[in-house]
Amino acid sequence: MERLYDWKSGIKKDELEETIKVLKNDGLVLVPTETVYGIGANAFSDIACKKIYEAKHRAQDNPLIVHVSDYEMLKRVANVSNEIEQKLIEAFMPGPFTLILEKRKEICDTASAGLSTIGVRMPSNSIIHEIIKESQIPIAAPSANVSGRPSGTNVADIMKELEDKMDVMIDGGDCPIGIESTVVKVIDGIPTILRPGFVTEDDIQDAIGCVKLSNQLFKTVSKDEKVESPGMKYRHYAPKTKCVLVLAGDDQIDKVNALLLENQGACVLGFEEDRDKINITSDRYIEIGSKQNLITVSQHLFSSLRKIDEIDNCPLAIVEGVEKKDLGLSIMNRLIRACEHNTI
Ligand code: TXA
Ligand code: MG
Repeated sequence: MERLYDWKSGIKKDELEETIKVLKNDGLVLVPTETVYGIGANAFSDIACKKIYEAKHRAQDNPLIVHVSDYEMLKRVANVSNEIEQKLIEAFMPGPFTLILEKRKEICDTASAGLSTIGVRMPSNSIIHEIIKESQIPIAAPSANVSGRPSGTNVADIMKELEDKMDVMIDGGDCPIGIESTVVKVIDGIPTILRPGFVTEDDIQDAIGCVKLSNQLFKTVSKDEKVESPGMKYRHYAPKTKCVLVLAGDDQIDKVNALLLENQGACVLGFEEDRDKINITSDRYIEIGSKQNLITVSQHLFSSLRKIDEIDNCPLAIVEGVEKKDLGLSIMNRLIRACEHNTI
């Protein structure tokens, strides 16, 4: 039985020491971050990082993000090659932001999936920060989910899927952002968003003066196609139940109600303010948050997607979309993939 540490009201010193021992011995640690939980391992160790791929059933060519505690450690794992990278680090670290940099040889090739670059993130969550700082071990950590499934944002959800794979699980409560970090790479001198997150296009524009969205963000990419980020190729976030995404607009609620008439037993993943306008019983309505306050939607996004599969005899999940701008763009990036591009 793995160890479950409850640090919701604070880090416990003896358990912190145990956690560091596990990392030093190439074990796997479930760690909270401000975005989503991660399956963490020593980023210097091939043996440890291989265990992450096994636990997640992750494709071997999909690299991990390396988490560091401060700028000094960042410089140990990667090279900062230009002024724009430097400015991005100053503007967005620590925080929900990952920068693709030139990898240094200290980081094992398993973590980078053999690439010469590595994603580096400096989380602001105090638990993972303390573990990295105390151990002086950079932590390689992908989101805590079996590949293809929604990312884990609370320990109860993660236990159902990964309990027997971890050596230590740390419960730091629900993740306050709920969707993964913004992944950026500087390409031809322009910060290019490879995965949208809480740090938005506007935030980067304001800090740097230029920004680009990868044109592969909302496309279906085939397994053999060349992509800017390996994660774009894979099926992601999808519940087992078939899902349809109803795009935002004046007719959104009418469309949801029409789909409900055509599909008996369907469930709805919708906003709290729309609950009374949608003709459905409460046991089939999954509230995802308020569209007036999008952080409540990102917070509940993955746990709501997981609830879909728990509803009995449900042939279809009808999912309400948001406007594709600011944090809404990042939310839609996840929802479109969860619905496997099935939109209406
Ligand atoms: O918020 C987050 O970023 C969370 C928490 C745990 O920090 N981590 C996370 O990791 O979402 P993961 O492995 O689920 O997603 C990492 C993404 C993948 O899409 C991967 O392809 C991309 O980052 N990535 C990693 N290294 C890369 C590289 N060198 N070049 C391009 N993309 C890279
Ligand atoms: Mg992931």
